[in-house]
Amino acid sequence: MNDTVSNRIVNSVFQVLVDGSKQNYIGEKISQLEHSLQAAAQAREANADDETVLAALLHDIGQFATSADQKQMICDASELTELDPTATKTPGYNATISVGVTGHERIGAEYLRKLGFSEKVAQLVESHVPVKRYLTGKDNTYYDGLSGASKLSLKYQGGPFTPNQVKAFEQDPLFHLKIQVRKWDDAAKVVGLQVPDLESYRAMAVKHLMDQAVSVRSA
Ligand SMILES: [Fe+2]
Repeated sequence: MNDTVSNRIVNSVFQVLVDGSKQNYIGEKISQLEHSLQAAAQAREANADDETVLAALLHDIGQFATSADQKQMICDASELTELDPTATKTPGYNATISVGVTGHERIGAEYLRKLGFSEKVAQLVESHVPVKRYLTGKDNTYYDGLSGASKLSLKYQGGPFTPNQVKAFEQDPLFHLKIQVRKWDDAAKVVGLQVPDLESYRAMAVKHLMDQAVSVRSA
């Protein structure tokens, strides 16, 4: 993959993120783009490798990437206000509310794989929902710290892992990194926080795609 093709792919991925952010962010108080940029900024500040930073940036891309399977998790808004009484102040609050796209983590990972992002990026993106199920299964206090929308979507995502599922998940070679991405995701909901913009990730994303193409050719 050359520079022009990589740039074109990055343009379209960034556009998906920007366009998607024009929708309300599933019961949260910041936009989806702000959320993604805050997650990526934390990864970059922690000196994470490029694949991890890109995964943090793109972890929710499946909320917007077009897919035949796309189905919103629609619930009664009263369920959300029960968990988060301030939710009535979120943009687009209505009698029913979407708390996200079912399987968005899988849709996002598949979308990124198809475009030529690495398996590690795809797996980190795919894991952010299983990690939520892991952490709620492992530690009761983790659930209490989730936003109302995140608590509500957990029900649609299969609920907390059982003790056996918790044990199995801990064997994953990317276990620690997957947990880390999820923690950045959870902390990336700060209203008004100033972080670097989307363009500041362009060179990293373009280089990543070009490197993948080289490693596929030489394999
Ligand atoms: Fe997220």
